[in-house]
Amino acid sequence: MKVTIFGSGYVGLVTGACLAHVGHQVTCVDIDAERVERLNRGESPIYEPGLDTYLASGLSEQLLSFTTDAENAVADADVIFIAVGTPTCEDGSADTRFVLNVAKTIGKYLRRPSLIVTKSTVPVGTADKIYEAVAETLAYRDLSIKFHVASNPEFLKEGAAVNDFMKPDRIIVGVDAPEVVDLFRQLYAAFNRNHDRLMVMDVRSAELAKYAANAMLATKISFINEMANIAERVGADIEAVRKGIGADPRIGYHFIYPGCGYGGSCFPKDVRALESTAKQFGYEPQILPAVESVNSRQKHSLFSKLAGRLGSDLRGQTIAVWGLAFKPQTDDMREAPSIPLIKSLLVAGARVLAFDPKASDACAEIFAEYEGIDFVDTKEAAVTEADALVICTEWKSFWSPDFAQLRRLMRGRLVVDGRNLYDTALMAREGFDYISIGRPTMAGETPLMAVDTDEELSVLADAV
Ligand code: UDX
Repeated sequence: MKVTIFGSGYVGLVTGACLAHVGHQVTCVDIDAERVERLNRGESPIYEPGLDTYLASGLSEQLLSFTTDAENAVADADVIFIAVGTPTCEDGSADTRFVLNVAKTIGKYLRRPSLIVTKSTVPVGTADKIYEAVAETLAYRDLSIKFHVASNPEFLKEGAAVNDFMKPDRIIVGVDAPEVVDLFRQLYAAFNRNHDRLMVMDVRSAELAKYAANAMLATKISFINEMANIAERVGADIEAVRKGIGADPRIGYHFIYPGCGYGGSCFPKDVRALESTAKQFGYEPQILPAVESVNSRQKHSLFSKLAGRLGSDLRGQTIAVWGLAFKPQTDDMREAPSIPLIKSLLVAGARVLAFDPKASDACAEIFAEYEGIDFVDTKEAAVTEADALVICTEWKSFWSPDFAQLRRLMRGRLVVDGRNLYDTALMAREGFDYISIGRPTMAGETPLMAVDTDEELSVLADAV
């Protein structure tokens, strides 16, 4: 099939590369000429395991191409995907401006019946708005061309995006007419071989399913983080609790790992956007704001734990940070818990030595205006002469450090671990003052929460 995809960001690029991989003729349209040029040379703007290989084979087999020329890309397509960004507006709602601009472009160049599909996460009702925008533009051209608008949300995880796309749990398609289903069956035949993964529903349910999935996952994380905060205070071990509840298949082991808060391009944005949609439709959600507020508090917990030991004035202290990306296997810094941590450290006067296997450049951009932070090339360089080490991301290379070397390199013995990587008793034997999430320290005390909120952080900034 001839497939055109608007937007060569995370979702668009992975969708394009994977659809070309199974033999479709894919044209990706993007307004960023430099990005298009780089992609046509096989250079991916994002780090994603397996993507480079698919990109290279798609280009060399001439099944995949990138262009800024929307006109030809639209005129020829059987299926047109919209995979442009939906950033958050100030009020928390999703900004669909880019999506609707693409809809107008499609209306401007459409020449034959086509299927338009939203792949971006868009608020409920957006497909209807796309329909109106395309129809209006066609009417302006005095044309009557039959088209459908469907919703086919993407559930891929960063760091595993290619694999997720190639082996989906489910393919949700929200359609406005039964004949559209056959087009989807053709499009996804290669992904749907052994058992039928296609779930057909109405468009609004498909749009809401995407938000509901992310909100549910975010809720699981905030729930376990709340339990971790309770565990710390009552002297329980959240890791034992996690296993205890995960064994119940109704709860399950997935997505109940406590930590320093969820980040990324989806959970924070989608929870806020769903809350905003609910309000627009006259419903005041109760769970969604709580999920978000537990999460933002959790992001401050690393600094609180550290300040509970070293005090809030960190002038003259060097703090090592291992892991900057919002999760391993990505260079993505969006909403990463390392950002509020580092801000607090710098406000408190610390010198920060930061290391991440992939995300240092992206993080350096965020802190370009700040003084007191250096990005180093190895995890050893980060801890050299450090008074404390804070771990934000569970990269594999952090799981089994040489503790004797760590002791030699570090000046202090404090390790604050936002991902519960190490055994508490082992850390005590190795001579570290080890504070993790929801687990008792060897001294058995609850680390003091020095700073819980942004407001308290600004009070701290004034005090230092
Ligand atoms: C997520 C969804 O998983 C995916 O289906 C959707 O399409 C996009 O959003 P992604 O943002 O790539 O994917 O990351 P994910 O692996 O889900 O992790 C999100 C955040 O939650 C990370 O910051 C991670 O560290 C955190 N997390 C995850 C936890 O703190 N605990 C967990 O148990 C799981």
